[in-house]
Amino acid sequence: MEVQETRQLTDPEPSGEAHPFVRVFTLRDGTQAVVRPMQPEDLPAWRAMLEACSPQTLWLRFECHSLPRLLADAPQWCLPKLGTQWVLVAELLAPPRIIGEGRLCLEPHGECGEFCVMVADPWQRHGLGRFLTDCCLELATALRVRRLVAEVLPENARMIALLQSRGFGLHKDAHGQVLFAERRLDHFG
Ligand SMILES: CC(C)(COP(=O)(O)OP(=O)(O)OC[C@H]1O[C@@H](n2cnc3c(N)ncnc32)[C@H](O)[C@@H]1OP(=O)(O)O)[C@@H](O)C(=O)NCCC(=O)NCCS
Repeated sequence: MEVQETRQLTDPEPSGEAHPFVRVFTLRDGTQAVVRPMQPEDLPAWRAMLEACSPQTLWLRFECHSLPRLLADAPQWCLPKLGTQWVLVAELLAPPRIIGEGRLCLEPHGECGEFCVMVADPWQRHGLGRFLTDCCLELATALRVRRLVAEVLPENARMIALLQSRGFGLHKDAHGQVLFAERRLDHFG
């Protein structure tokens, strides 16, 4: 993993504007991806990302087996929800292509955030899921989230390992059908 740009979300420009959250990540094969906030015009590329995913990836992320349904619902996943949801996309530049995303949703009072990540199949196992998770953690920290949670299916070994490697505790729901992951970001005192 290599981070080549480490601007902080809240670093002010001389003009007083905050920097957008932009990071560059180098995949294990040397290809570079830019991680940046999703824009409404990313809708076609976001749909193309879904089309590059296996049914299992779509199931693990959306608990939905129907690609046509997900493609039809795509606008609602790409609509900006200012102040409550942050979506980061990982994009290859040449040719432009969205290959993964990290999504952070805040509860109204902002103390608890839920996040999830996904990487389209051809780009899995390159470290990008881990990097997107770290971006969500960084974003949540900058937004002063105190408790970060995620829901994961029990068969999702890779995501479970990833969450554990990032210090999340896991417990099952009453029926054992979903695992709840939780980590406190309580370094604000
Ligand atoms: C889960 C997911 C995001 C991981 O992304 P990825 O880019 O493939 O994963 P990475 O290459 O960053 O590897 C992350 C970690 O997974 C673990 N891992 C990788 N392969 C694994 C395997 N076969 N079994 C168990 N753990 C594995 C390792 O801990 C790895 O970290 P390491 O490389 O430091 O050892 C991706 O597989 C995905 O999109 N899956 C479908 C959607 C999904 O499950 N989203 C999460 C919903 S909560």
